[in-house]
Amino acid sequence: MRLDVFSIFPEYLAPLDLSLIGRAREKRLLDLTVHDLREWTHDRHRTVDDTPYGGGAGMVMKPEPWGEALDTVLSATPDVPVAEVSPSGESVAGASSAGEPVAEVPAAEDSAAAVRARPVLIVPSPAGEVFTQTTARELASRDHLVFACGRYEGIDQRVIDWASQRMEVRPMSIGDYVLNGGEVAVLAMVEAIARLLPGVIGNPGSLDEESHEDGLLEYPVYTKPATWRGLDVPSILLSGDHGKVARWRRDQRLRRTAATRPDLLAVLPAGSLDARDSEVLREATTGAQEEEQREAGSSRVEASGSGLAE
Ligand code: ADE
Repeated sequence: MRLDVFSIFPEYLAPLDLSLIGRAREKRLLDLTVHDLREWTHDRHRTVDDTPYGGGAGMVMKPEPWGEALDTVLSATPDVPVAEVSPSGESVAGASSAGEPVAEVPAAEDSAAAVRARPVLIVPSPAGEVFTQTTARELASRDHLVFACGRYEGIDQRVIDWASQRMEVRPMSIGDYVLNGGEVAVLAMVEAIARLLPGVIGNPGSLDEESHEDGLLEYPVYTKPATWRGLDVPSILLSGDHGKVARWRRDQRLRRTAATRPDLLAVLPAGSLDARDSEVLREATTGAQEEEQREAGSSRVEASGSGLAE
């Protein structure tokens, strides 16, 4: 997979040299380049921003450096008929990556390969769609990802509109909070995507039961010693009974998900729970409701004691 990251703070992306991602780059599983956007400026001050049309606070990233930077990566991409294939794989009227209209519509069997080869421009933004494990998996199946790290109030919208004619553009948020720029979001997204590529993680089995892979959070883990500061490892994990261990772990995943992320349970695909799963969830939710009622009861008692109750 090829990745190009554009930023005015390329040093921010230094962690991509380390650990599993660094090793994947050494092993050539990842062809990752971090570019300094200022290389595509032509003035003495290497200016990348200007005041917003229409007024308002802050500065906006100028379109020209972005346009030239994207031209560079697109010119190195084979001339895929990019606008011919929608992200869902449907054929639509198209143009080549050089912007020329394309006469031939690819055969249906070519469309999966065409989607795969079509470069994706990921623009980190708190206004983007939320990046999830599903997004990571989707993006891990593509050949070429380009990340455009915005700073200030964002990038001139025409860059996004222009790029949309040539690439699949995905504004992406890593959560409902505001960062100072896209770099930290890119670190998170590149790590989540790259670890899904074959050969990046030493033991691919460790991907199977991770949080979010099948809609449930992962189970708690323990290692030696069996007793630490008076706390014992759950005895079932020492029993050697693989079936019981597997059931206990699944119960823990269900309880954890019910306790901290009930929203995930609501969107589990039909048929993902067996009878025992449903029983565990019923117990977990009944227990939580009883606790809520107990708490509500005790706060009513406290309020009446303080004279706040009606
Ligand atoms: N840039 C600023 N805030 C961001 C967020 N929450 N996600 C992605 N990019 C951002």
